[in-house]
Amino acid sequence: MSGKILYSYTGIFDTPDQIIHAAEKAVEEGYTKYDVNTPYPVHGMDKAMKLKPSKLGYFALVFGLSGTLSALLTIWWMSAINYPIVIGGKPLFSFPAYVPIMFEVTVLSAAIMTVVVMLFFFFKLPNNSHPLHGTVYMKKVSADKYGISIQADDPKFSESSVRKFLEGVHAAEIIPIYWDEEEINHQNKIFEPKFIVFLAAVALITSGVTYFSFNKLMYMVPFNWMMDQPKLSAQQQSPIFADGFGMRLPVAGTVARGYMLYQFTGQPDSAGKTLVNPIPVSKESLALGKTKFDIYCSPCHGYNADGASRLRGQFPNPPSLHSDKVRTWTDGRIFAVITEGQNIMPSYSSQLSVDERWAVINYIRALQRALNAKESDVQ
Ligand code: HEC
Repeated sequence: MSGKILYSYTGIFDTPDQIIHAAEKAVEEGYTKYDVNTPYPVHGMDKAMKLKPSKLGYFALVFGLSGTLSALLTIWWMSAINYPIVIGGKPLFSFPAYVPIMFEVTVLSAAIMTVVVMLFFFFKLPNNSHPLHGTVYMKKVSADKYGISIQADDPKFSESSVRKFLEGVHAAEIIPIYWDEEEINHQNKIFEPKFIVFLAAVALITSGVTYFSFNKLMYMVPFNWMMDQPKLSAQQQSPIFADGFGMRLPVAGTVARGYMLYQFTGQPDSAGKTLVNPIPVSKESLALGKTKFDIYCSPCHGYNADGASRLRGQFPNPPSLHSDKVRTWTDGRIFAVITEGQNIMPSYSSQLSVDERWAVINYIRALQRALNAKESDVQ
């Protein structure tokens, strides 16, 4: 044992009460560089050792607050300065919307930095060696014994007095701990070449396997990706056609399903003879017809189709639709006027679908009948 450098004297105890007593006595003796090791947190130990509250909390506070502040500044800069977009009419600096993110960043940075500070500042990582590591003492106190270790660099330390002290508090075993020569020479074991090579290998293998699975494997047969199907998006060029246009016009003469071409352009009379109103008179049809008539026809023809124009001379007044002429017209003949227009009245074919035109005609019929009611209508 000679030639080795003493690190500490350790005492081993059998019960938690004994270790608490030993810690209290150590404080009384005036030892400052000592520590207690127990297999689980022993209640009342911090009091017995007269430990001050850990300073870790201050680091958590500082890093938490700087998280809050950096979140606030980041969001403010992004959404009010760098890329201002009005969302839902809210102001660019909309504090309530920032709160959840600020809260999250506060918790995140406080939590991460607390662990980092604990590891690197308090535990002095990357130095991961300690003279107590791998000793019989450590094996015992991490299983079922309780131990105290009084360090040789304590100002009150002397081998005889510490031995006497440990005997005085009835230590079951007293073991001196020496510095391991290797530990003194290679303090940063974590940086051993073997370990670095191991880390590099793990990093290479994981990233290689990940890259291969997500970029190659997933695209091999039988995996199938909809985004990989051959297709052209709107406005894209196509090498297939001589003109290079990807978007094609329908073949000449194509008729869309459910769509009938208007065959009476310029021939309103034959439209009147041929076309039959396919929409039966119903509450719904009249309601639709009234809505559309009021919107598209009433500005010129008046709400009652009597020619009471609301355009006040900005457009020639149309004739009344209650004339004998229009009343004796067939539905098909009126359809021709709505579809093609008549003289200065424009076409309403782009405003009204075919079915809506027939509904408007049903409504005009109802208006006509209202102004020319027969005896039978009021019975
Ligand atoms: C911009 C005003 C205007 C609007 C809107 C308008 N019309 Fe006319 N309409 C006229 C004028 C003006 C005439 C007369 C055209 C002419 O000189 O032959 C007319 C004529 C007609 C005639 C023929 C009447 C006749 O005696 O020859 C019918 C039927 C008719 N309109 C129905 C409609 C229907 C149905 C609508 C709604 C879809 C409508 N109009 C919307 C201005 C309008």
